[in-house]
Amino acid sequence: MNLSFKTGDELILFLVLVTLVIFAIVILFVVFGIFRALKQIDAERSGKIVEAFSFDTWWKSLTGAVPLEKEEVILLNHNYDGIRELDNHLPPWWKYLFYATIVFAIVYMLDYHVWYSSPLQEEEYQQEVTVAQKQIEEYQAKNANSIDEKTVKLLVTDAKVLAKGKEIFTGKCVACHGALGEGGVGPNLTDEYWLHGGTINDVFKTIKNGVPEKGMIAWKATLKPNEMQDVSNYILSIAGTNPPNGKAPQGVKADSTATK
Ligand code: HEC
Repeated sequence: MNLSFKTGDELILFLVLVTLVIFAIVILFVVFGIFRALKQIDAERSGKIVEAFSFDTWWKSLTGAVPLEKEEVILLNHNYDGIRELDNHLPPWWKYLFYATIVFAIVYMLDYHVWYSSPLQEEEYQQEVTVAQKQIEEYQAKNANSIDEKTVKLLVTDAKVLAKGKEIFTGKCVACHGALGEGGVGPNLTDEYWLHGGTINDVFKTIKNGVPEKGMIAWKATLKPNEMQDVSNYILSIAGTNPPNGKAPQGVKADSTATK
């Protein structure tokens, strides 16, 4: 049960409602008492005996149905070619079902609208959306592992990809390529010259397999395919930034942003 009120007004509203409900119950009891008293007076006048109130009589009065053994009591006084009519109440099973719906409605109202113990439609929807988003992320994470130099995508305008790529670059690559990609032990990554090709596919391949004999590490063991895709895109995104102390160009001039 969750009885939290967002504002003082809600608390007052709740208290007013509770008071009203208590009032209604008291009035119901009073009316019931008067009703029984009147019935008693009526019975005494006509010389009938009113059964004392008990759970059993109350339970029977809920359906009011007359059992078949006593059907002559409720047989109506007409006869249509042998077809006669009983003035009986609705069958007990129908009435019990009806009372069950009332109980259900009260429980439902308390559960959903008074105690807020179960989620309403909108909350349920949000919960499902959260679950679905998690599934999407899992799916993407799983599929990210299938990226290779042939399927790698050019995403140099995707801020999320570039932010992740920059993070990886700062953490793993700056020691040899410089904080701004200006080069050091490794080549300048911001110029138009490439030793191993400047397309997204080439850059991905170089990062993945490295150039071990020249001191460039093969990153496939450390980075996930989607991480290599991110950092490849980051590298292509810093093309032409011309940072200070840039290392002299190495390799051949190539258009870095074109894919094969
Ligand atoms: C230990 C030093 C070192 C580290 C760390 C390093 N690199 Fe390199 N990288 C090199 C060297 C040296 C080369 C040049 C290889 C050659 O001469 O063929 C190179 C080349 C490259 C090239 C190819 C450049 C071209 O002109 O074709 C790319 C792309 C590259 N590195 C990306 C990265 C990325 C991304 C990281 C971090 C995940 C990284 N490197 C980390 C040393 C390093």
